Amino acid sequence: MRTTVRDVLSKAGEEPITMLTAYDAVTAEIVDERGVDVILVGDSVGNTAHGHETTLPVTVDQMADHTTAVARGAEDALVVADMPFLSYGHDDKESIENAGRMLKEAGAHAVKLESGPHTVELTEKLSHLGIPVMAHLGLTPQSVNQQGYALQGTSEEAADRMLELAAAHEDAGAFSLVLERVPAPLAARITDALEIPTIGIGAGPDCDGQVLVVDDAVGLSDWTPSFVEEFGNVREAMGDAIESYTEAVESGEFPGAEHSEGVEELDELY
Ligand code: KIV
Ligand code: NA
Repeated sequence: MRTTVRDVLSKAGEEPITMLTAYDAVTAEIVDERGVDVILVGDSVGNTAHGHETTLPVTVDQMADHTTAVARGAEDALVVADMPFLSYGHDDKESIENAGRMLKEAGAHAVKLESGPHTVELTEKLSHLGIPVMAHLGLTPQSVNQQGYALQGTSEEAADRMLELAAAHEDAGAFSLVLERVPAPLAARITDALEIPTIGIGAGPDCDGQVLVVDDAVGLSDWTPSFVEEFGNVREAMGDAIESYTEAVESGEFPGAEHSEGVEELDELY
């Protein structure tokens, strides 16, 4: 059964919400099969699949393509598409069209926006139009040129501002809020203050849910931030398989007779 925005809302404070990113159909299938509630087609695809240093170069077309693939692979999970840098927040018409594409064209069920004072009204408009919005505060990687990748909300003033913005986005109709790289006590305070669920990444144990980049969670990335736990070592497993393949080809062990077709039936032809 498909997880809905209403299911996510009703889990707040009751049951932990699980979320992982995915960018392609096969990963979405695996994540979905294992019962993860929400799949985020993160603009982290710029880093993971496209090899960029930052998420800034990611385009709406790329997000639509990756979202389409993920939506094909995911049967039960709620699919949330990240809106990339400068695709929202400056012009309403363009923001709504870009967000709309993710649902109309790509098969997402909701969008995520890196939030700030400039996304409060937009969140309200999108929600009214039937586009559920996941908000995102704390470290927002599209602002890397201002924030770097540092812990956010570390002064009383910054913490109060984050809490205010969180409440403003809840009032505007956001159905959930990602909190990235904020002190655990601040994430706990925001989680307490809101009705909608908070989903943390590097935000401590008191959020209503957790999210990680799937490459990091399964141990596919060559480097991970300190708040990540690698729950597997896919990079090594994949590397070992590739090495075995190379050795088998070089030694002539592969392909063997069992991999060759039409040997007996068609032998006389040649
Ligand atoms: O793009 C992404 O993967 C994200 C999550 C880390 C929240 O925004
Ligand atoms: Na993102």
